[in-house]
Parts: sequence; C-alpha cells; structure tokens
Amino acid sequence: MSLRIALTKGRLEDKTLTMLEQAGYGTEKVRNKGRALVLSDTVHPIEYVLVKSNDCITYVEHGAADIGVVGKDTLLENEGDYYEMLDLKTGKCCFIVAALPQAQLFSKKGRVRIGTKYPHVARQYFLSRNMDVEIIKIDGSVELSPLIGLVDGIVDIMETGSTLKANALQVLDVVSEISARVIVNKASWKLKKDEITQVLADLKKAVDQNA
Ligand code: PRP
Repeated sequence: MSLRIALTKGRLEDKTLTMLEQAGYGTEKVRNKGRALVLSDTVHPIEYVLVKSNDCITYVEHGAADIGVVGKDTLLENEGDYYEMLDLKTGKCCFIVAALPQAQLFSKKGRVRIGTKYPHVARQYFLSRNMDVEIIKIDGSVELSPLIGLVDGIVDIMETGSTLKANALQVLDVVSEISARVIVNKASWKLKKDEITQVLADLKKAVDQNA
C-alpha cells in the first residue's frame, strides 16, 4: 500500500466518500465496511481508516496516516503539526453564537457563561470581543444547556439551523465558516510527494466540478 488515508466518521463520511468516488477512487469496501477498520481502495494502492475527527489529526500528525480528511471545526479547535492542503468545499456549516432571545448575551452585566464542545474556539471568539466569559465544556446536544439554565449562550456548529430553530435559540453571530479539509503528514509530504500530489489533484478536480 503506498498511501494511507484517514477519513472522519459520521457527518463527513458519506460526503467524503462521494468526493473520492467523483475523483475516480474505489471506495466500495469502505461503503460496505461492516466492523472492519482498515479498508483498501479497489482502484488505487490506498488504504483507508475510519476514525473520529480528533483522532484523524492524531493519526496524520504522527504519520500513521499520510493524508486525513477532517472538518475545519476540528482543526480550529485542536493544535496540530500537519499541512492543510485542500478545502473540499463539502460538509459546509459554520460556528455560531446562539442564545435564547431574552438572554441579552452581549449586554449582560456580570460574567457570561458559554456552553460549547469547542472551548478553544469559543474562548478565542469572546477574547476578540473583549468579553471575559466562563466556558463550560459540553460533549453533545449543546443546545440543551441554555434551555435549562446551565449557560447564557452557546458556541456550536450550525448546519441546517433546524436544531436551533426547534429550540427557539437565536443566532447572534457567525464565528467562522467550516468545511472538510485535506491534511497531510509533513514527512509523508517529503517522502511520498508524487503520490500525495496525485490524490490532491484528483480531489481538486472533483471540487472544481462541484463548484
Ligand atoms: C451538531 C451540532 C448541533 C447540530 C446542528 O451536533 O452540535 O447540535 O449538529 O445541526 P443543524 O443546524 O443541521 O440542526 P451533532 O449532531 O454533530 O452531535 P451532538 O448533538 O451529539 O452534539
């Protein structure tokens, strides 16, 4: 196997596979993976592994995978040593600040509490607004935390906006746009430059076709 690619499971999985298929890669084994964790491409000498988003960075950073496909949200939240090479322009969503209408988040007297799965992104955002906030880390369904009084507002991902709408939360600001990105291990970029350049070129063609 000449290259190993770490794909992020879940939200990005189908979108990434579709893009690889458009680029001419054979992802049937990944689509029909069952409980298998390492899957080979049926066209190219490539091996895929399916991992959680944070682990995608870890595997690429340490060279266990040459290439990774992961959301910009994960890259913004975590430090990491890799090259970010390509925006796949799929899996688009954004980081937002949201709250109940009565929360008056930006004018509230006293310390504001923010619930988020992304403490680093949230801290940076409120620092840039000169607001000293208390960040409370929530692992899932972040939208619940302001509804039952744990926090004054949230920093979270919005894709369709339906979760916010269903819970009467208002978007107060957009922190940044997010999409799937291709990252590359630094040593692999030196040692396997031709193979990696080919994969990037194939994917770029698919991105351009979708534009
Ligand atoms: C994400 C995010 C929101 C939701 C937004 O959660 O944290 O809860 O999706 O999507 P929408 O704008 O299309 O409604 P995810 O489903 O990834 O996991 P979680 O609920 O466990 O946090």
